[in-house]
Amino acid sequence: MREISDHWARKAKQEGYPARSVYKLKEIEEKFGVLPQRGLVLDLGASPGSWTLFVLRHREGRCAVVAADLAPLDLRPAPEGLVFHQGDICESSLRLMLETEGPYDTLLSDAAPSTTGNRTVDTARSEALVGEVLEIARGALKPGGACVVKIFQGSGQKRIMDGMKKIFATVKAFKPKACRSESFETYFIGQNKIGGKR
Ligand SMILES: C[S@@+](CC[C@H](N)C(=O)[O-])C[C@H]1O[C@@H](n2cnc3c(N)ncnc32)[C@H](O)[C@@H]1O
Repeated sequence: MREISDHWARKAKQEGYPARSVYKLKEIEEKFGVLPQRGLVLDLGASPGSWTLFVLRHREGRCAVVAADLAPLDLRPAPEGLVFHQGDICESSLRLMLETEGPYDTLLSDAAPSTTGNRTVDTARSEALVGEVLEIARGALKPGGACVVKIFQGSGQKRIMDGMKKIFATVKAFKPKACRSESFETYFIGQNKIGGKR
C-alpha cells in the first residue's frame, strides 16, 4: 500500500503540487462538482497549498481563493488570486477576518489536528475542529454553496453528519482512493446550503 502512496507523491511532484493530498480534492471534484464555475473559495487548513493551487489552476483566473493555516504555504511564487492568512481558524480574530472577506461559494477544509497516536484523543480534536469549520460555513458560505470537510472517523461522526444536514440540502460521506489505506480520515461533502445564516 505504501507503493500506492508513493505513486501519488511522485505524481504530485511531477505536476508541481506540494503535497499528494491534491488527488483527494481532484477526485472529490470529479465526483461531486463542488467548485463554482467562477467565484470565491475558502480553503481552511490549506498548508502546504495543494488544494489552493488545484482550485486556482482548475478554474484559471475564474476563481479566487482565501486560504488559512497555522503553517505557511509552500507555493512559490505566490499564485495570483490568492489571499493567505497564517493563524488558527479557531481564533475569533481570524474567523472575523475570514467572514469579512466572504461570502464564499465553496468552503474546503482539509484541516486536521496533529495526531498523538491515541485515536480517541485525535478523533475528539478533529471533531472540535470540524465544529469550528461548520460555524464558519454557517456564517460565511453563500446560500446554495458547497462544503468539503475532513473528519476522523469515530463516535462523533453521526452527530457531525446530522449537524451538516441542518445546513445543506445534501450531505454525503466519501473516502477518496488517494487517502492512505491505514488512515481513518474521510470527507463529508455538503451541497446546496439552505437559506442564509441559520
Ligand atoms: C493535511 S494538511 C492540509 C493539506 C492541504 N489541503 C494541501 O493540499 O496542501 C492539514 C493542515 O491543517 C492545519 N491545521 C490544523 N489545525 C488548524 C487550525 N486550528 N487552524 C488552521 N490550520 C490548522 C495544519 O497546520 C495542516 O497544515
